[in-house]
Amino acid sequence: MPFNDTFLEELRSKNEISEVIGAYVNLKRAGRLYKGLCPFHGEKTPSFTVYPDTQSFYCFGCGVGGDVVSFIRKAENLDYTEAVKLLADRSGMAMPDSGYDDSMLKRRNRIYDMNKEAAHFFFSQLIDKKNAHALQYYFDRGYTFDTIKHFGLGYAPDSWDALKKHLNEKRYSNEELYAANLLRKSSKGTYYDNFRNRVIIPIIDIRGRVVGFGGRVLDDSKPKYLNTSDTLAYKKTNQIFAMNFAKNHADKGIILCEGYMDVIALHQAGFENAVASCGTSLTPEQVRTISKYTDTVILSQDADEAGRKAVDKSIGLFGTVGVKVKVINFTGAKDPDEFIQKFGADRFKALIEGAETDTEYKLLLAREKYDLTSNAGRADYVGEAARILSALDPVKRDIYASEIAEQTKVSKTAILSECKRLAGRRERRAKREINRSAMQMRDEKDKINPEKARYKAAALAEERVIAVLINHPDFLRTVEERLTEEDFVTAFNRHIFTVLKDRIAAGNSIHMSAMAQVLTAEELSVLTGLEAFGRGLSHPKQECLESIGTLKAEKQKTLKPNPDELSDDEFRELFNNS
Ligand code: UTP
Ligand code: MN
Repeated sequence: MPFNDTFLEELRSKNEISEVIGAYVNLKRAGRLYKGLCPFHGEKTPSFTVYPDTQSFYCFGCGVGGDVVSFIRKAENLDYTEAVKLLADRSGMAMPDSGYDDSMLKRRNRIYDMNKEAAHFFFSQLIDKKNAHALQYYFDRGYTFDTIKHFGLGYAPDSWDALKKHLNEKRYSNEELYAANLLRKSSKGTYYDNFRNRVIIPIIDIRGRVVGFGGRVLDDSKPKYLNTSDTLAYKKTNQIFAMNFAKNHADKGIILCEGYMDVIALHQAGFENAVASCGTSLTPEQVRTISKYTDTVILSQDADEAGRKAVDKSIGLFGTVGVKVKVINFTGAKDPDEFIQKFGADRFKALIEGAETDTEYKLLLAREKYDLTSNAGRADYVGEAARILSALDPVKRDIYASEIAEQTKVSKTAILSECKRLAGRRERRAKREINRSAMQMRDEKDKINPEKARYKAAALAEERVIAVLINHPDFLRTVEERLTEEDFVTAFNRHIFTVLKDRIAAGNSIHMSAMAQVLTAEELSVLTGLEAFGRGLSHPKQECLESIGTLKAEKQKTLKPNPDELSDDEFRELFNNS
C-alpha cells in the first residue's frame, strides 16, 4: 500500500534521520555528515555515513543505503509498512486511514498481549497457596518478595492445560498461543502447555514488553531451563535479559553474566547494571545493543571451563565495537549468584573494583599455562605475551612489557621488538582481509546489475548520469534532449533511470523515502550509493554530459554485430550494404 508524498514528507521531517539512527549507531559528526560503525556488517573503521541534508544514509563498506524508513526496515527486520508504522508511532503521527496491510504488526502485538497475560497468570499461580513449594523455591534461593515482584517471577503449574484454559477464556485461540510458543502441538494435533511445573522468568525487552519466558525445573531434572523459541515477537539472539532495568544504570558499566538467576541475585544485591544473554552464547547483535548504552563491560561469566571460553569470545566481540572490557576473577564460587549468597555484596563490589583489564586477564591465563622456572617455559610465555601485547597501543605495550621483563628476566627490548614484528604481521593480515572482503562486496554488488561486468564502461557512464540526475533533477531537460532509456546498455540502470525520469517529469518526489516505495531494497541501496557519489562530483553537469557521450559510444559498440555470430548470408548482406 503506497503512502502519499505529503504523508512521507511529514514522517521524514518528524523523524530526523541522524536522531533515529543515533539510537542504533554511535554517530560522530564530521562536518555536514555523521559517521559511525555500520550496524549491518562487522567493521572497525567507520564507513557508515548519514547525510542530514538529504536525510539518507549509505555504507561505503557494504553498499547498504536508503532513507530513514529503509534503515528501520533493515535494523528492525520489518516490512515497509511496519517500518512506516514504527516511525509514525515514534513521532506521534496517525497512520493514513487507507487499508494498509498491518496483519503482521497485529499478530506481533497479539503475542505481546498474550505474553503479558501469561506472565500475570504465572505470577498468580506462584502466590497461590496450593503452589507454596514454588514460592519456597525462590525464598530458598534467597530472593525476597520484592525481587519476585520486580522481575515478575512466576510459576507454571504441573498441568497440561492450565495456561491454555486461562488464555482461551481471554479469547486467544490455540493457533495464536502456539505462534507465541506458549503452547505446543502433539503429533496428533492437540495443543498443550509448553511450560509445566517450572518456575518462570519473564523476558522483558527494552521497551517493557514481555517477549518470552525462561522456565527452570525445581529439582535436578533435565533440561534445567526451557526457553521460548523464536516467535514473531522474540528473537533470542537479539535479546538481553534485564537490559530494561540495566540501561538506567549503564553509566557504571554493564555486568555481563551467564544466567538469569545470576542477574536476579545481583540486582537484589544492588548491582542493577547486571544482564545476561537469554539461553544462548553472546551474539554480535547483543554486543551491539550493549555498546549503545555503555563503554565498559564487566565480564562476570561462570568460573568453569565453559565460562572461560565465554569470556574469550566476549573479549573478541566487544573489541570489535570499541567497548572496554574488564574481567572479574572470582574464586570460591561457581557463579555470581553463588558468590553473592556465600560472601555478600561488599565482596562482589571489591571484585568489580579489582577486575582485571582484558589484557591482564589474557596474560594471567597465559602465565598459568607455562612453567616460568624453566627456560623453555619462559620463552613460550614471552612469545604468547608478545602476541597479546602486539594488539595494544605503544604506551600500554611499554607498561606491560616492563612487567613481563621483570617476571621473566627477558630484556624489555627483546620483548618489544618481538611485539613489533608480530604487530607488523597482524597489520598485513588485516590488510589482506580488508582487500578480500572489498572484493567480495564488489562481487555482491555486481549481482544486482549482472551486466555491469561485461559492459563496464557503459555501466559506469550510466551510473554517473543517474548520480547527477538524482542530485540535480532540474538537469533532466538537458539530459532528455541527448539521451533516452533506449540508449542504456544495462537493463538495471535503464530501469532506475526510467523510474527516476518519470517521477521527475511528473513532479513526484525523488527523495529516497518516496523512491523506497517503487524500488526494491537492493535497488534503493544502489541508488543511495549513487546519490552519495553524485554529491561528491565537483563539476556534475559537465561530467554528466561527458558520460552521455561515453554511453552513446559504448552503446554503438554493443550494436555492432559480432561477425562470429552471423550466418554466412547475413554476413554477406552486411558486407554489401556497407
Ligand atoms: P546455568 O546452568 O549456569 O544456570 O546456565 P544458572 O542460571 O546458574 O541457574 P541455576 O543457578 O543453576 O539455577 C546459565 C544460563 O544458560 C541457559 C539459561 O539462560 C541459564 O540462565 N540455559 C542453561 C539454558 O537455556 N538451558 C539449560 O538447560 C541450561
Ligand atoms: Mn547458578
